[in-house]
Amino acid sequence: MTGNTYGKKVLFSGMQATGTITLGNYLGALKNWVTLSDEYECFYCVVDLHSITIRQDPAKLRQSARNLLMLYIAAGLDPKKNCIYYQSHVSGHAELAWILNCYTYMGELQRMTQFKDKSAKHAENINAGLFTYPVLLAADILLFQADVVPVGKDQLQHLEITRDIAQRFNAIYGDVFTIPEVHMGKIGAKIMSLQEPMKKMSKSDENANATIYLTDDGDTILRKFKRAVTDSEGCIRYSREQPGIKNLLDIYCACTDQTPEGAVAEFEGRGYGELKQAVAESVMGIFRPVQEEFLRLSKDKAYIDGIIKENGEKADYFARKTLRKVQKKVGFPERIR
Ligand code: TRP
Repeated sequence: MTGNTYGKKVLFSGMQATGTITLGNYLGALKNWVTLSDEYECFYCVVDLHSITIRQDPAKLRQSARNLLMLYIAAGLDPKKNCIYYQSHVSGHAELAWILNCYTYMGELQRMTQFKDKSAKHAENINAGLFTYPVLLAADILLFQADVVPVGKDQLQHLEITRDIAQRFNAIYGDVFTIPEVHMGKIGAKIMSLQEPMKKMSKSDENANATIYLTDDGDTILRKFKRAVTDSEGCIRYSREQPGIKNLLDIYCACTDQTPEGAVAEFEGRGYGELKQAVAESVMGIFRPVQEEFLRLSKDKAYIDGIIKENGEKADYFARKTLRKVQKKVGFPERIR
């Protein structure tokens, strides 16, 4: 471990401040974050700098960033113990990203699958920020000397490049950065679309029935599950050949802390309709307390503002420490005090 003084190991993660959190984000990330928050010194960032690599409506971005920050707290992350903050409030992210840009090769960035996907999707706006997105992400992590980064499979390539950049920098300047490890969630709760169960559940799905949002009410959740695509086998098994049923079972297991075998036994001889009903109820069961807390927090502006200020300053303090070290290593003149 290099140069941290927190005692516990450091964890960093973040989510994009766009749109509304999905059941997939919740089960795949947020729920896991809460479990990890006792063991690690955690920095949970609302990555709004990353969001503008795609054109955003300013008012909507501001609102969804605030909603996301409140959802982190509503989901159970204690903002006194976890540093929950906006990336844009800590200028060290952008400053370190610039430096790391100069230690990252065009070829490396050209190979990133997320860049290829996003530039295909937004052909009219292939901006330089989209290209250097992974460098900013590396800066996020390295700025806090993070030991572990909980992310989903789709972010593994980003973690790889982060480690490569850190190792390259360390090879030149000595032990400046901690080399972060990936932390994968337990049963890799990858939640799939309810309409096309071979595809990941996504915030931006055009089919409104494909995605469950953390803000959906009970009726909406039930209706979406009732319409979930299954198959004509009529038998509940946990198998790749029944992706729709498997996804429902995965959701059920993640919400009730069950094993797939246990769930299959529970539903033996029962129909798809009953399974869907039970899955919907399990989801409502875990969403309800989060939604209630979210509602309460959204009415307490002063409290949230206080959290934003305090945690922003705390993050800035740690960020500055790394940044000063890096600036010195690369040869920037010392500040006169
Ligand atoms: N790119 C990540 C995503 O879309 C979000 C992110 C930005 C992130 N910086 C990070 C995740 C640093 C982990 C660590 O999900």
